[in-house]
Amino acid sequence: MSRPRVFSGIQPTADSFHLGNYLGAVRQWVALQDTHDAFYCVVDLHALTLPYDPALLPRRSRVAAAQLLAAGLDPDRCTLFVQSHVAEHAELCWMLGCLTGFGEANRMTQFKDKSSRDGHDQASVGLFTYPVLQAADILLYQADQVPVGEDQRQHLELSRALANRFNHRFGQTFTPPQPYILAEVAKIYDLQDPAAKMSKSSSSPQGIIDVLDSPEAIRRKIARAVTDAGTEVRADPEAKPGVTNLLRIYSALSGEPVAAVETRYHGAGYGAFKKDLAELVVATFAAVREKTHQLMADQAALDRLLAHGAARARRAAAPTMAAARERMGLLKAAGSG
Ligand code: TYM
Repeated sequence: MSRPRVFSGIQPTADSFHLGNYLGAVRQWVALQDTHDAFYCVVDLHALTLPYDPALLPRRSRVAAAQLLAAGLDPDRCTLFVQSHVAEHAELCWMLGCLTGFGEANRMTQFKDKSSRDGHDQASVGLFTYPVLQAADILLYQADQVPVGEDQRQHLELSRALANRFNHRFGQTFTPPQPYILAEVAKIYDLQDPAAKMSKSSSSPQGIIDVLDSPEAIRRKIARAVTDAGTEVRADPEAKPGVTNLLRIYSALSGEPVAAVETRYHGAGYGAFKKDLAELVVATFAAVREKTHQLMADQAALDRLLAHGAARARRAAAPTMAAARERMGLLKAAGSG
């Protein structure tokens, strides 16, 4: 029996992924390679939707791929590629865009958040159609499941709606994808502002732990993480959001239930708990960091690996794309097979 297919993507918008990306998405990507037919993508076209520096983007795409490999993606067990290497993503985005309501796109909360940050007039049409490109990414591979964090749930609902709409209007073509979201790690919070999601666009770098941070930086950021009144290491999302976030991180990295961690640090105070948490994060990322640097040292090998992934992705996408073109009534070019 063939395995269910997963697809997911990550943007190359920073020099390192952060702990939220790692726990909310990347760790699941690694695990799913063994049970699923997995496609993972560095979504560089999505990275064009907010102001960025074109001189930095190639390095960021490479370091994104290198971190994914270092975290455990195995090119023999999954297909890892760069979005712009497979032109069909942009083509299908256009086609699905013609099925997307303006009002429907306008209801996307990530668009509202991101466009209000720099003032609505500064937002690009690309930012507006970001979720349509995301739908194209997923539908092109007939993905059954999409491992992401909670913030992507609404985008996945749009992907499902577009798959169903296309199928209804033009005939069965796309698989409506399901979200794959693990509740315990679906939303990791900022260490300085436990009411906000840990995010690349956070106001203070002190609130974000980067996968490629030095051990000293990780220790410093965790030591200074905002905790709550009292001294008890206890999960309580309402009264103790800061400590609760740290407990969830600890639990996710150690594999112990939150209750077991609470029991172990009963009466120990925040200091001892934070110290151990810092060592746990340092230990988790040490190997990823070293392997990323090694992979970045041989750019040609990394680029070859990505070219290989893109060729596989193109092959997987071709039949779906051909069917979508034909069903939408696009005339086949003579001699195009
Ligand atoms: P990006 O690069 O912004 O985020 C990558 C992944 O990290 C998750 N994430 C978090 N999870 C838990 N806690 C956090 N604080 C946190 N911050 C980020 C995100 O949910 C995401 O899974 N739009 C996608 C990129 C994309 C995509 C796709 C994903 C483009 N096409 C197709 C799936 C399928 C995104 O948010 O990337």
